[in-house]
Amino acid sequence: MSAQARKSPVSLNTLRQMKRRGEHFASLTAYDALFAELISSSGVDVLLVGDSLGMVLHGHDSTLPVTLDDMVYHMNCVRRGNKGALIMADLPFMSYASESQSLESAAALMRAGAHVVKLEGGAWLAESTRLLTERGIPVCAHMGLTPQSINRIGGYRVQGRNPDHAQTMIDEALILQDSGASIILLECVPVDLGQEISEKLEVCVIGIGAGPHTDGQIMVMHDMLGLTPSSIRVPKFVKNFLPESKDGIPGAFRAYADAVKAGAFPAPEHCFT
Ligand code: KIV
Repeated sequence: MSAQARKSPVSLNTLRQMKRRGEHFASLTAYDALFAELISSSGVDVLLVGDSLGMVLHGHDSTLPVTLDDMVYHMNCVRRGNKGALIMADLPFMSYASESQSLESAAALMRAGAHVVKLEGGAWLAESTRLLTERGIPVCAHMGLTPQSINRIGGYRVQGRNPDHAQTMIDEALILQDSGASIILLECVPVDLGQEISEKLEVCVIGIGAGPHTDGQIMVMHDMLGLTPSSIRVPKFVKNFLPESKDGIPGAFRAYADAVKAGAFPAPEHCFT
């Protein structure tokens, strides 16, 4: 859907209705005004101001050095360019270590124009999720491979392959939904687990490397343009949409949004079994 064709801005209600109708929605990261305008005008429904900016913009080798000030700066840029997409913004590493800190950090991102804040973790986020939601701040809980915990996890690898771990993830996703989370984002999990969690939850599930059955898909913008930094191994779930575009970068964004909505992306070669 082009920005002109979009009748009203995308809201959480829009995404819920899409889930009910079995329609997939497309999300991409954006970090500045120009790309926010191009992406939100191309049929992509959700923009994520992701802390991946630490790697793709700032040259770090992880998301850990990203600060709340960095996120507020990029959030303001994206807000200025956005044409009606829903904007999520990441709470960076150690900006939500306590419940009171999560309220203050989330408020800074909401004041800058975020519609939803994203936190990484599992059941331990339940109380912060409840507090934020009660105070009017919608929460996306990022589960599975959580890059802010990369030192504990020990590497960028698929999560939930072991049946006990998969069951824990299902239970924790339900706890976060019950605590008020509006969206669950699953990163790097097997197709079956992505499908089971999406079917069990009423709230929308966005996947990255979580198979074709999640309600929405997300990718890092640089990855889907074939611009992954040389220090980073291109993950299996990435597809470069630029070669099939007849219209450069804007065409690649449209091709991605169309492929997600048609159920053509992710294909089996982008998924973990
Ligand atoms: O920061 C980010 O870009 C993300 C996506 C990988 C989902 O969290």
